[in-house]
Amino acid sequence: PNIKPTVFIIFGGTGDLNARKLSPALYNLFLDGWLPDQFAIIGTGRTRLTDEEFRTKLLADLNQFSRNGKARKEDWEKFAPHIFYQVADVKTPAAYEQFSQRIAAFEEDWKVPANVIYYLAVAPEFFPIIATGIAQRHPEDDPTRVRIVIEKPFGHDLESARALNKLLAQHFQECQIYRIDHYLGKETVQNIMAFRFANAIMEPLWNRNSIEHVQISVTEQLGVGERTGYYDNSGALRDMIQNHLLQLLCLVAMDPPVNFTADEVRNRKVDVLRAMRRFKPEDVREAAVRGQYAAGWLEGKKVPGYREEKGANPASNTETFAAVKFFVDNWRWQGVPFYVRTGKRLHRSASIISIQFKDVPHIIFPAETGESWQQNRLIISIQPEMSIRLQVQAKRPGLDMMLNTVDMVFDYQGTYAAEAPEAYETLLLDAMLGDQTLFMRGDQVEEAWDLIMPILNAWQGRPSLSFPNYSADSWGPELAEALIARDGFHWFTLPLDGKKK
Ligand code: BG6
Repeated sequence: PNIKPTVFIIFGGTGDLNARKLSPALYNLFLDGWLPDQFAIIGTGRTRLTDEEFRTKLLADLNQFSRNGKARKEDWEKFAPHIFYQVADVKTPAAYEQFSQRIAAFEEDWKVPANVIYYLAVAPEFFPIIATGIAQRHPEDDPTRVRIVIEKPFGHDLESARALNKLLAQHFQECQIYRIDHYLGKETVQNIMAFRFANAIMEPLWNRNSIEHVQISVTEQLGVGERTGYYDNSGALRDMIQNHLLQLLCLVAMDPPVNFTADEVRNRKVDVLRAMRRFKPEDVREAAVRGQYAAGWLEGKKVPGYREEKGANPASNTETFAAVKFFVDNWRWQGVPFYVRTGKRLHRSASIISIQFKDVPHIIFPAETGESWQQNRLIISIQPEMSIRLQVQAKRPGLDMMLNTVDMVFDYQGTYAAEAPEAYETLLLDAMLGDQTLFMRGDQVEEAWDLIMPILNAWQGRPSLSFPNYSADSWGPELAEALIARDGFHWFTLPLDGKKK
């Protein structure tokens, strides 16, 4: 690809996200030959470090977190000279002045103007300060040269998300703003669009006439751990549903875009959010369930309850589980429920979309042949298994006419030899290429907040008396089962033998 000479400035350079995700992703892009020769990464933070000290830290991080394992000495020696460090207090104009000087020095060296990507991997209270500081250094620049990447959380509620969008819009054009939702970079998530829109057989079935209901489930074994400082102010609805799960829902529910360009794709996605039925305060109890994990055992280890996590508020009312029943009020989806759920410290880590089709209109087989039948189901497994399964009925081999359900499976590992890239590799490359398709547009973020605000407000106004209400290693609170069982369905999980990793 044609990536222009680029200076990549990472705010939060000494932080966790850079250590675990950003630097390993940049390193892998470098190894795979995606990065131009004229390329510099400047990490920045309040800690005083020399370039050399920063490089040593990043090498240790890479060895720990890169999907390729330990960095090879000869590769690292080629990569390291591209890395620099700049101590900075982002509240002072001097910080931005220093970045400008560094950028100018690279440009002089490279003898070409550079693209500059500012990556904000810092706490959200710094977003406005940094965005303003950056903008003041680039008043007359070509907008396509300067980009700003914003990590989550984008806002704490509708009002703060709007305020942040407004502030960004004062300084940047929308084509310069890259709002990250790392789920969109996942290989299996991108494939939803390929599967739907590059195959003719799906579209005629993909609507209320054939589909009975949809489930989107992102369960994690992981607890909140040391992130209580952030998490206690957030909760599962903000942390996962407002962004990741609603983005998955949009990919499942969207109409075909005119073409595969950023705005066409995002137009169709935002249409879904706009069509989603808004909750009235009195609907929330029926449509949404929350939970918080208690202490317990998981995979043979004793794990603390949420209120006992390090730094947690012992009376916290924050939800670590949320399940919601949504509707999309448009021609395609009227009357089809979309159940979404997510939670921490659950029985298994799995991200699965399950699309259940309607029953056959008339059963011709005698009752005793079909005891183990199910309706057709399409299962898009995002992680850890990466697969698409279509469940169909088939005749069991034998002299009698016995039917059962079998899977037609497309499995990534069995099909492709190459390992899938990490989400951040895809997204960082796209940001460098100037492709916004897999990033959130301002209006999408606001619509998603608008949709969940009534639930947030209801929960805020009505502390849960039953917390904690699910134990580690369970599937969440019983009420979540009731939410879907009321409609005659169950939460779908892949059988363990279907889990390849
Ligand atoms: C993050 C959330 O956005 O996504 C975390 O803040 C969550 O709480 C994580 O654990 C899940 O991402 P993944 O890629 O591990 O499924």
